[in-house]
Amino acid sequence: MAILVTGGIGFIGSHTVVELANNGNEVIIVDNLYNSKIEVLENIKKITGKDFRFYQFDICNKEKLEEIFKENKIDSVIHFAGYKAVGESVKEPLMYYSNNLISTINLLEVMKKFNIKKLVFSSSAAVYGIQETPKCSEKMKRGETTSPYGTTKAMIEKILEDLYISDNSWNITILRYFNPVGAHSSGLIGEDPRGTPNNLMPYILKVASGKLDVLNIYGNNYPTPDGTCIRDYIHVVDLAKGHVKALEKAPNGLNVYNLASGKGVSVLELVKTFEKVNNLKVNYKFVDRRPGDLPEYYADPTKAYNELGWKTAKNLEDICKDAWNYEKNK
Ligand code: NAD
Ligand code: UFG
Repeated sequence: MAILVTGGIGFIGSHTVVELANNGNEVIIVDNLYNSKIEVLENIKKITGKDFRFYQFDICNKEKLEEIFKENKIDSVIHFAGYKAVGESVKEPLMYYSNNLISTINLLEVMKKFNIKKLVFSSSAAVYGIQETPKCSEKMKRGETTSPYGTTKAMIEKILEDLYISDNSWNITILRYFNPVGAHSSGLIGEDPRGTPNNLMPYILKVASGKLDVLNIYGNNYPTPDGTCIRDYIHVVDLAKGHVKALEKAPNGLNVYNLASGKGVSVLELVKTFEKVNNLKVNYKFVDRRPGDLPEYYADPTKAYNELGWKTAKNLEDICKDAWNYEKNK
């Protein structure tokens, strides 16, 4: 029996494939390489010493997706494939609604057809949207989302809830990631966005390696101790291990978990830690706030600990060291 990983060549998917394979699972990957490179597959093979069946196509193509289910004995699916750039989603909402929703609905229809009803879905802290307190717990209702990207995740969560209501033999685990960063300790896989990075850590890496001149820190007048925004950063290997636990331990039914460290860290704190552990300087300047950024949010991760036995093992220093190690290796 095998696990199908959609988007398995991407940042989080590739690290999850490694952890799944290291735990003795057979893994099949589908990815259209829209936001990833084929070299990642070779590197996953190097890290694990295992081979993987890989399909390269867009999962919005339902007929092709069916072929995977015809050709393999799949017992569960982890669904990472999707577009994820918040800013781009504001400019190109149709592209985001189309890819994220159609790919997911196709996948669910094909799974239903082949009677495979175990799914882990990549959701996001973005579904909490605007809340009254910064600490996000699964007990809270989804809030008003601040981008089309976040809305796609909230809509998919709703679709999954409706699907489960219609047929409670599905086992669906929704994982809400906070801010995934870091890289595999081998330095062979990590986050490698196309073009100029939008997210903080990839941008820091480009400045530290001299490929970009200066990091713009968006706002230093937020109501936080040092004036910069606070987020909950999680090492991607911890996150990947959370998926293995979700497959193994999540109770039957539909369950939602935050995957995060539970610790809020400011932009400036992350930059300073990066400089300290890697013994280098990151040139930065403060600029205006970025539209849509919330001042502060972090997770309550206790549900994942209580029910899946999972918590983060790596700290901010590990994150900064591993991210830099990957960047130097590229
Ligand atoms: P990523 O872009 O690195 O990986 C996604 C992969 O899916 C890419 O390799 C891309 O080529 C592939 N893909 C996209 N659309 C596809 C399609 N229609 N058919 C086949 N393949 C397709 O992103 P990531 O950071 O690894 O994120 C994985 C998932 O986690 C996404 O759903 C994302 O929205 C979610 N998520 C990410 C973050 C984050 O900050 N990285 C935070 C919360 C949630
Ligand atoms: N930031 C900078 N300069 C940069 C990039 C980011 O100062 O060049 C700041 C942002 O203003 C923010 C923090 O760094 O305060 C983190 O920003 P990221 O873009 O790295 O991440 P976000 O918190 O905006 O978004 C992340 C994921 C989304 C997800 C969201 C959940 O990238 O996929 O968390 O709310 F939806």
